[in-house]
Amino acid sequence: MTGLVSAPVSGLKGDIGVPGDKSISHRALMIGGMAVGETTIRGLLLGDDVLRTATALEAMGVSIKRDSDDVWRVWGVGVGGLQEPDDVLDLGNSGTGARLLMGLVATHPIQVQFTGDASLRSRPMGRIATPLGQMGTQVIARDGDKMPLTVIGARMAMPIEYKLPVPSAQIKSAVLLAGLNTPGETSVIETRPSRNHTELMLRHFGATLTVTDEAPDRRVITLTGQPELESKEVIIPGDPSSAAFPLVAALITPESEITIKNIGLNPLRIGMIDTLREMGADIDVTGARDQAGEPVADLVVRTSQLKGVTVPPERAPSMIDEYPVLAVAAAAADGVTRMRGLKELRVKESNRLAAIADGLTACGVGVEIEDDDLIVTGAPASIPGGAQIESRMDHRIAMSFLVLGMTAKQPVAIDDSHHIATSFPSFVGLMKGLGADIKENS
Ligand code: S3P
Repeated sequence: MTGLVSAPVSGLKGDIGVPGDKSISHRALMIGGMAVGETTIRGLLLGDDVLRTATALEAMGVSIKRDSDDVWRVWGVGVGGLQEPDDVLDLGNSGTGARLLMGLVATHPIQVQFTGDASLRSRPMGRIATPLGQMGTQVIARDGDKMPLTVIGARMAMPIEYKLPVPSAQIKSAVLLAGLNTPGETSVIETRPSRNHTELMLRHFGATLTVTDEAPDRRVITLTGQPELESKEVIIPGDPSSAAFPLVAALITPESEITIKNIGLNPLRIGMIDTLREMGADIDVTGARDQAGEPVADLVVRTSQLKGVTVPPERAPSMIDEYPVLAVAAAAADGVTRMRGLKELRVKESNRLAAIADGLTACGVGVEIEDDDLIVTGAPASIPGGAQIESRMDHRIAMSFLVLGMTAKQPVAIDDSHHIATSFPSFVGLMKGLGADIKENS
């Protein structure tokens, strides 16, 4: 367990790129693994979460080779071609890896055991088991909906139309991936659109998938089952959820100006940028371009005096992973920021609502939870800091509080930095390169 401590700094400067998008990396491996022939992937995130997905796919017959840091080659088994693994699949800390793979294997006539670390074993899996059950898959889980669990794949899978009970790209993707080896049409209905990387990637590999906005609160996504997926080249943009950490750091430390290059700006992922701009953030988006079906650009970010805003609940799916670091930005803003409708934050890698509130309180910031809303009272240039924060096996909690330490009066420490490697292994090095003062804390 390595603790870290982050001290106040000013003048963050430089150009950086952040690692590949975690969501897209998982999908590139999984969908490449279902294609026939050799898929090449550039920009894959080398985070523990994604490497666990690669190992799990290999255990089911997909051949995966890393040529150099930047090119991965995947030889898929074809839709329906996964083999029963001869051991338990351990997805570590990765909810996305676990849930999407449950969907992928669900319509293969195989039996697969899944487990993960203590954080993943505490997260609800019933939300995936329910639609898979309707397709004919059996899921036997500890305590009804927790890992370890066994997926007994359907021998004759049935297509379903499934209305998401919560806005979740993981549930949507699990159903669509299960629909791959299901005859007929599998549909998912969303009331609030969530990230659409699975849909884009399936189409990129040649699947027939339609998206119809039948009403403002009814988007229907339909996949035609049993396609023949063709191998492809995939280029993965920088992860906007990782970019959010240096972005907020530059905004809230004095005299900073940084450029974050090659960031994916899929419209369903940019709620954070919209919100920060409403708060008064100086963020220029330059060099906007299309990269393998995903919009990409560079972000130029300068120190800004932020002001409190209300973030509407409808925006949550487009920035669901950014609330911990948005709360840090809110702590440095003038006035009150109310982030509404954050129920889903309770079931992330940790209970993030509680983790943010406890951490900010320990650092002397005014914070309240009212139902599912998080309310932060900013203290520009006067956040006391000087606390040690529990990371709770949650990478985004760990990184958020290191960012807070950069603007507090006294350094902020985290007890364990280990999980940062799940999504952003180069975080500390990149931040130090910009001028951050982060050290080991024994
Ligand atoms: C993800 C979806 C989100 C997000 C997670 C990645 C994905 O989870 O929090 O980090 O890649 O589909 P939910 O779908 O459960 O909201």
